[in-house]
Amino acid sequence: MKLSIPRACGSWSKSPPVSTTLHKPISFYSSIPSSSPLKPQVPLFLRPPIHSATLSDLQKWHHWAKTLPVPHSDDPPDPTLLRRELKWLLEDALEVHSSVPQMGSHSDDRPIKLRTSLEQLYSVWRQRIEERRPFQYVVGCEHWRDLVLSVQDGVLIPRPETEVFVDLVGDVVTQNGDLTQGLWADLGTGSGAIAIGIGRILGPRGRVIATDLSPVAVSVASFNVQRYSLQDIIEIRQGSWFEPLKDVEGKLSGLVSNPPYIPSDHISGLQPEVGWHEPRLALDGGVDGIDALLHLCNGAASMLKPGGFFIFETNGEKQCKFLVDYMENESKGNFYDVKIVPDFAGIQRFVTGFHH
Ligand SMILES: C[S@@+](CC[C@H](N)C(=O)[O-])C[C@H]1O[C@@H](n2cnc3c(N)ncnc32)[C@H](O)[C@@H]1O
Repeated sequence: MKLSIPRACGSWSKSPPVSTTLHKPISFYSSIPSSSPLKPQVPLFLRPPIHSATLSDLQKWHHWAKTLPVPHSDDPPDPTLLRRELKWLLEDALEVHSSVPQMGSHSDDRPIKLRTSLEQLYSVWRQRIEERRPFQYVVGCEHWRDLVLSVQDGVLIPRPETEVFVDLVGDVVTQNGDLTQGLWADLGTGSGAIAIGIGRILGPRGRVIATDLSPVAVSVASFNVQRYSLQDIIEIRQGSWFEPLKDVEGKLSGLVSNPPYIPSDHISGLQPEVGWHEPRLALDGGVDGIDALLHLCNGAASMLKPGGFFIFETNGEKQCKFLVDYMENESKGNFYDVKIVPDFAGIQRFVTGFHH
């Protein structure tokens, strides 16, 4: 599992928001369920510009950041990517983006409005370079499809390959309109990415229950659901896999999950941004990486209604083949049209199918 090139969060010109209402200050916490007492962090680009610094002090920081030495590593970050990240960090931190081109000019004592303090900018860039903290945690968000999702420590950064879930659900509901009005579940929702993508496809007649064991994920997913005004469609529940779904057993039109699937022994060899910083709960799939996937396969038949559709994301070809074999042979007669679907890079990534 690698982290791909992130995109800046506050620069709407690169990827416009779905709705201009997202610029409005909103009350972030009102619809977060009582099961989620944690207060989610607000992404940098949404914070009020209550800090200030002189342009020359900002220039000093910028020069320091550009020249901060990267500690020796077998897997160092790409310098071009770091330069881009620095630019994006500035764009998110500044109230007025047009100050950015002036960064190269001479000393200037004009005040600049910032969304975080200069001290914090020194601190977070040191974390990015010296501790390999993912850029997405530094700025508190990630672009995913046309969404800008809040993320923070303790929540998996949604990956580009996972975007395929939304296309697959779009295709299946186009062919089978009944599924649009049904109840869907996204298990291990993390930031809520898949649930939000599906919720927007289903529209007002659909319903999605998104669950996670992690209280931080529950809090962040709730924040993201509310920011996209989907709280009437998506309900967030906390608990382990099917446990919070007992009331909807046998009623699901769709069941989707991107569970932890990295074999435990492989975690120490992951890119530092992932292995050192992303939550183990989101990565570790047990000895063969398949523990959670098997649990989900075993429960899917009792959760889905006849004709219900499922998608599971896997680590690649080996896990896909294992799951297809398992579903066709061990769960005899429960599923049909079980298929492997590749991701954008052509890697066998997803297993999909229907419940009889
Ligand atoms: C690979 S991450 C996927 C996150 C998100 N769906 C995405 O695609 O970006 C797996 C998620 O499963 C959650 N998880 C791990 N064990 C769980 C369990 N027993 N029950 C529910 N969720 C669990 C983790 O907290 C994490 O959010």
